[in-house]
This record gives sequence, structure tokens and C-alpha cells, in this order.
Amino acid sequence: MGLMAYSSTRSCLVCVIVGVLVIVSYANNLYNDVEITWGDGRAKLLNNGELLTLSLDKASGSGFQSKNEYLFGKIDMQIKLVAGNSAGTVTAYYLSSQGATHDEIDFEFLGNLSGDPYILHTNVFSQGKGNREQQFYLWFDPTADFHTYSILWNPQRIIFSVDGTPIREFKNLESSLGVAFPKNQPMRIYSSLWNADDWATRGGLVKTDWSRAPFTASYRNFNANACVVSSGSNSCSTSTSTSTSSSSSSSSSSSPTSANKAWLTQELDTTSIERMRWVQRNYMIYNYCTDAKRFPQGLPPECTI
Ligand SMILES: *[C@@H]1O[C@H](CO)[C@@H](O)[C@H](O)[C@H]1NC(C)=O
Repeated sequence: MGLMAYSSTRSCLVCVIVGVLVIVSYANNLYNDVEITWGDGRAKLLNNGELLTLSLDKASGSGFQSKNEYLFGKIDMQIKLVAGNSAGTVTAYYLSSQGATHDEIDFEFLGNLSGDPYILHTNVFSQGKGNREQQFYLWFDPTADFHTYSILWNPQRIIFSVDGTPIREFKNLESSLGVAFPKNQPMRIYSSLWNADDWATRGGLVKTDWSRAPFTASYRNFNANACVVSSGSNSCSTSTSTSTSSSSSSSSSSSPTSANKAWLTQELDTTSIERMRWVQRNYMIYNYCTDAKRFPQGLPPECTI
């Protein structure tokens, strides 16, 4: 009897420990936040949702999208890019709404030959109009390890950051200059790994080396501190937030509480502006705002300030 009492106590302890582990791993689980959308088995959720990998071979690439649609947010993802000879491959990670007059906020990583630098390509579309490319080299090897790529999107500005360092800001200049700003159309996150050797390698200069396939990019630690829009209600509008916030409380997407909604009005402080200038001075390799040849009628209005 004594022994049985002991063993039932012990199995209860095991139950409690297992329960705690389940809750902890659930808190950062890509199963909650994304769904694989294409690639016929080439995209994989691994380690109980801790890791996602996309792969590309000659027959197909692969991709995923977020389950939620967001209208403003601070969204972080850690990505480790295709290593070795990745020339011709493009890893796209972006926010986009639907339709002809869609909004879009893009990160695209253009692969390169082993040892040659990746290009980080960025763009912003508002109401269907893009043509706002800025490209950068990175100050580290993005294939050696995971790095955090973030989009802060609030009603005043869009800030692209890499490991917490801002690299680009697109301000809301709608009222001052009449430049459309993404602010009404909810966007989803999309990511894909695909072959673009017809343009990504400086106009198709280098072709994808299929003997190196499959190419793989990895994702982890997704975090969306964002306003989630679902069936017309927005988790950030106070009165209707209850159901959305409770359904997302077990995932890494969460609706803002007064404690964590600072991102909704966040702006760059002096130190961040200096760091962004450092990146732009040393690592920016293309800026549409200085490409006068491309805009014979004059540079876009947001470039004049
Ligand atoms: C690849 O490396 C070459 C040589 O360093 C560089 O000019 C180019 O910008 C790099 N990126 C791509 C995508 O071609």
C-alpha cells in the first residue's frame, strides 16, 4: 500500500512537469501562427513547431503564410538563409494585402555565390504602387546563423530593422505630400523560397546551380505584437477585443495591452537614427530616391524631404 501511494504521487508529479513543458513550448509555436501553403512537402514544421524550413529544388520552391491578418504591428522573425552557393535563389519575407490596389512591405534576400554577399532588397507598395526599392548588403553573414528581421508598421511610419538596427524608414506623408500610406488594408505575412535566376543575379548573370539543390532557409522565434483583424473586428479596438485576444493568448501573436502597445506610436530616437544612417552610408547599394535616370519627370515626392 505504501509503495502504491508513493508511485501514484510520483506519476502525479510527472503529470505536472509534462503539463508545464507543454505550456512553455506552446508559447513559441509556429503551428499557431503560420500555415504552409505550397511546395508539396518541401516546407516543413519541425521540433514541435519551433522551426520551419523552406526548400527549393529544380521542380519547385515552397512557402508559408500567417494564419492571421494584421492591421499594424511589430513583427519579428528569425531567419537563417540558404548557405553556400545560393546564387539565383530568392527568399522573400513580406507583408501583403490582396488585390490590384494592394499594400505590401517587402524583405527579399537575393542569394549569391559562396563567399559573395547576399543582397537584402526592400520595397513598399501603397495602393498598388511600388517602385520604392532600396537594397543593402548586410554587416554579417546571414547564412551562418539566425538573425532577426523586423517590420514595425504603425499609422505614422514603417521601419525595417535587422537585429534591432533600423535600416529603412518609410514615413506617412499622406497629409503633407499626398503620398499614399498603407493604413486600411489588413496584411498577412508571406514567405517563400523560389528560383529567380532570370533577374536576381544582376539581370541573370549567374544561374542557379541545381547540383547544390535542395536549397534550404530556416525560420524560428516568430513574434507578432500586432492588431489582428478577423471577420471585421480588430483586436486593437478596445470593446470588441475579448474573443480575439483570448484566442491568440496561447500563441505568440497578441493584441496590445496598455503595457505593450508602445509600438503603435513608436518612432526612431536619436541613437536609432544615427545607427540607420550608419547602415545607409556603409551598406546601402541602391536607393530609388537617388536614381534620377529612372524618374525623368522628377523623383517621387517622399524623396524630396
Ligand atoms: C553578389 O556578389 C557580387 C560580387 O561581390 C556583387 O556585386 C553582387 O551585388 C552580389 N549580389 C548579387 C545578388 O548579385
